[in-house]
Amino acid sequence: MRATHATTRSALHHLAARTDEGVTTVTVSSTTVPPSPPTSPLSMDGHEQVVHCFDRTTGLRAIIAIHDTSLGPALGGTRFFPYSSDDEALADVLRLSRSMSYKNALAGIPHGGGKAVIIGNPATDKTPELLRAYGRFVESLGGRYVTACDVGTYVQDMDVVAETTRFATGRSPENGGAGDSSVLTAYGVFQGMRAAAQHVWGEPTLRGRRVGIAGVGKVGRVLAGHLVEDGAQVVVTDVNSAAVSALLATHPSVETVGDVAALVRGDLDVYAPCALGGALDDDTVEVLKARIVCGGANNQLVIEGDGGTADRLVAKGITYAPDFLVNAGGVIQVSDELRGFDFERAKRGASAIFEHTLEVLRVADERGESPAAAADHIAEQRMAAGSPTIWLPQP
Ligand SMILES: NC(=O)c1ccc[n+]([C@@H]2O[C@H](COP(=O)([O-])OP(=O)(O)OC[C@H]3O[C@@H](n4cnc5c(N)ncnc54)[C@H](O)[C@@H]3O)[C@@H](O)[C@H]2O)c1
Repeated sequence: MRATHATTRSALHHLAARTDEGVTTVTVSSTTVPPSPPTSPLSMDGHEQVVHCFDRTTGLRAIIAIHDTSLGPALGGTRFFPYSSDDEALADVLRLSRSMSYKNALAGIPHGGGKAVIIGNPATDKTPELLRAYGRFVESLGGRYVTACDVGTYVQDMDVVAETTRFATGRSPENGGAGDSSVLTAYGVFQGMRAAAQHVWGEPTLRGRRVGIAGVGKVGRVLAGHLVEDGAQVVVTDVNSAAVSALLATHPSVETVGDVAALVRGDLDVYAPCALGGALDDDTVEVLKARIVCGGANNQLVIEGDGGTADRLVAKGITYAPDFLVNAGGVIQVSDELRGFDFERAKRGASAIFEHTLEVLRVADERGESPAAAADHIAEQRMAAGSPTIWLPQP
């Protein structure tokens, strides 16, 4: 869940009714959005459908969660992870699939939110047979859920999953897919950062600004390249020295610091978390000097909801470009792949993150709330304006 991410389907319909009545502005505040129903076998935390999968031949155990299909078939990756219990796996898949509804709605793609988890150790349990068995479960949903890569699953895995389902995206170019999505993810983050710069400094450029990137893996490395090209002063850190060396080989002007703690204490104009989740804890917000936070990492806010990290950032005068808004380039890419991948078309989609971010920051200012809360409300309004009935496979 993000700032709220708590709206139930009935609340979305309430919003829809208001839209029908001609209300064009977002009118629901976080305090009036009803909380999610408690997680129980039937309420499923507000999800439309949750499918528990077991394949007796391969031992596959998976959960597919479809949160909301008011904007189209659910789209979201498959996480392959050694959860310590089924309850932990269920809680994770429900949280992740709900987040996808918001991300997809904000990205303006014709998809609802869903996600899947495969319970197991990807290093030891992943076999082609198990992935094919998983693909059959995805196929059984007739397109209501479209899968892609996530933690523990890769482009090559989606190639195998696609052997048994038509509803796998994020495949390799050799198999008709778009390949690695981090290029457009990084491009989208850069667009979000340009928009935040426009909002804060009046110019859509990072020229002359000092930008700190934590994590220069697939996304951070490409982002660094965009920033150098734009004329920014880039400083990075990564626990993997090989990742830093690879970046310096192509961009020798990039500076390095020892760790994230040193990075966030530095004189930054922009902080770009591009490693793991939980980047914005209380200690980080406390010492951060940057005026903008905008990065590719998922789930950056440690304390979500009213009074949480997003509000603390506002109180410190830091403009936060919500992670699920600016890192949507990857999902825009896999969504495009479903139509027959066209890189330029997908790049245009990711370019729109610039306008989307400007809109969110403007609405946040107008409503006097955090950008995370504003992004939630815009996503909820879009879902409310979608279909009131579940998406069904097309004949
Ligand atoms: N790849 C995508 O298309 C995509 C899309 C959306 C969101 N994201 C998110 O963006 C983030 C980065 O993704 P990625 O694909 O670049 O992953 P990656 O694994 O390629 O890169 C992450 C980098 O962070 C570094 N790192 C890890 N812990 C660190 C720490 N404590 N301090 C400094 N560096 C650390 C790693 O060494 C690695 O180089 C993740 O949170 C991911 O969920 C990625």
